[in-house]
Amino acid sequence: MSSTGSSLPFPMPREAMPRHVAMIMDGNGRWAKLKGRPRVFGHRYGAERVREIVEQAGQWGISVLTLYAFSDENWGRPIDEVGVIMHLIEHYLRKERQELNRQNVRFRVIGDSSRFSPALRKLIDETREMLADNTGLILNVALSYGGRAEITRATKAIAEKVARGEILADDISQKIIAEHLDTAGLPDPDLVIRTSGESRISNFLLWQAAYAEFYFTPVLWPDFSRHEFAKALEDFYSRERRFGLTGAQARSVTAADFLVVQGQTPC
Ligand code: IPE
Ligand code: IPE
Ligand code: MG
Repeated sequence: MSSTGSSLPFPMPREAMPRHVAMIMDGNGRWAKLKGRPRVFGHRYGAERVREIVEQAGQWGISVLTLYAFSDENWGRPIDEVGVIMHLIEHYLRKERQELNRQNVRFRVIGDSSRFSPALRKLIDETREMLADNTGLILNVALSYGGRAEITRATKAIAEKVARGEILADDISQKIIAEHLDTAGLPDPDLVIRTSGESRISNFLLWQAAYAEFYFTPVLWPDFSRHEFAKALEDFYSRERRFGLTGAQARSVTAADFLVVQGQTPC
């Protein structure tokens, strides 16, 4: 049994590590309020936390880390707060991309990029290109992202292909739909973590999280340390994933087998 990096405070075989962990980074505003500071103070600390979590995910051999940084609905927040969050994202990318490169991290963004400023779009493209030849963790940032909007975009793209005669309506399958989502080519999340005590999905990876395990913690995002991350993995490791089968069946089918049944390729 090969074990994961020594920094995990409990024994876990490498094969049991989730391939894709997705995080709803929530609670920045409440964290700041508890400290008597404005909400944006919480966003600043939240951005600092990202560095530690990304590095840890790479060290543990996780393949994909998706971070929900800004939702479609978050555009409705006060304009000043939106401005600060966008600025922080730009600042993070500018400041961190050399370090991400050093850590062999690849970079991807999901969401409606048409709403980004031209400067942010350029920065995202440059960062993606700069890290494209790396082979380690895929850092996938959900920005201006909403699961319903993503499924709507995919549906339109498929309908256009049907209209052009490129595919038959009858051939539309779950695999084809998955290939038209922003996450095309990525494995589905095995584990979705939400900080801040809320037990909801808030329009995140609605299609992809069909069989994800959910971990909800009251810890606010700026306090979500690598230790808290390890606790989430330990909890994940204690779960029995059944994918609709009986317990006995599920124990004889590996997660990789299940992915093949679902038309996904293990990465
Ligand atoms: C998460 O923290 C960050 C974003 C949604 C951009 P919040 O800003 O939602 O913090 P709370 O939930 O109000 O505490
Ligand atoms: C979800 O958090 C979105 C992000 C973390 C980016 P919200 O704070 O926007 O979600 P709700 O409003 O509590 O559902
Ligand atoms: Mg929130």
